[in-house]
Amino acid sequence: MRQLKLPSGNTMPVFGLGTWRMGEHPDRFQSEVAVIRRALDLGISLIDTAEMYGEGGAEDVIGEAIRGVRDELFLVSKFYPHNASRSGVIEACERSLQRMNCDYIDLYLLHWPGSIPLTQTFDALHALQESGKISDFGVSNFDLHDLQAIPESDQPLLGCNQVFYNLAHREVEWQVAGWCRQRGLPMMAYSPLDQAGELLRSPVLAEVADRRDATVAQIALAWLLHQPGTVVIPKSAKPERIEQNLGALDIKLSDGDLQDLDTAFPAPEQAVRLGMR
Ligand SMILES: NC(=O)c1ccc[n+]([C@@H]2O[C@H](COP(=O)([O-])OP(=O)(O)OC[C@H]3O[C@@H](n4cnc5c(N)ncnc54)[C@H](OP(=O)(O)O)[C@@H]3O)[C@@H](O)[C@H]2O)c1
Repeated sequence: MRQLKLPSGNTMPVFGLGTWRMGEHPDRFQSEVAVIRRALDLGISLIDTAEMYGEGGAEDVIGEAIRGVRDELFLVSKFYPHNASRSGVIEACERSLQRMNCDYIDLYLLHWPGSIPLTQTFDALHALQESGKISDFGVSNFDLHDLQAIPESDQPLLGCNQVFYNLAHREVEWQVAGWCRQRGLPMMAYSPLDQAGELLRSPVLAEVADRRDATVAQIALAWLLHQPGTVVIPKSAKPERIEQNLGALDIKLSDGDLQDLDTAFPAPEQAVRLGMR
């Protein structure tokens, strides 16, 4: 699978599995473990999660699913802004590691901007990196002014900004995408299928999908994968959909496809705040 390079020199796959809404119901634990294992068998090696998902439940599911294969994977997790103090980040990371039965997280993100001074947060992230408990760190839901508020010495070290980004929500393109791309900072597009909402019912998307002999979900993902420095993390609890979504990696959109999608889903033409789910 295609990889992106992080400032640390580590690499990150461009396609991963989201896990929001997993780990919320004990009776679904085994079936969710099975879905993640199936996703790994299908070739997915990046898993995105957060301490917030199922209040640790999603990380518990992942911990069970990745037994014996952890080192083949790229694990992303996120900590709450209220845990962003120096000791809070370290303790949150320890809990996540314990739930996921592993020694390190590949990419550890501040879930959204909060009120704890970022100097404390980054101090803790450096300490975690030095002790080998995380390989890279980054942020999520950071708009331009949030990115600019990151200590200057840390800005070039960020591993990604995970953002709400899909064809129907291109707010990130107003300013954030330019800032990230100038610095070689990958963007990880969350809710890339717009949570299976209106986007997947778009007639234009259906038309392009028809032409490419693909599904609308594949086209939505292929469009994001066409954007420079962008990783996608669609979530599905259905193995057949995970397999289908992976097919997006093999689709090369033509200039005509891109033009049609751009006309139906234009980039913002005036100042707009970064969207969030
Ligand atoms: N950083 C943040 O603040 C933040 C916020 C939101 C999400 N995230 C991360 O991003 C991941 C993905 O975002 P998301 O879960 O919000 O939304 P999403 O991936 O855009 O959409 C997930 C929804 O789409 C359905 N789906 C998946 N593949 C499909 C297909 N081929 N055809 C039709 N429906 C399909 C899924 O249903 P089934 O499961 O039934 O297939 C699910 O309801 C999350 O799981 C999470 O890891 C991060």
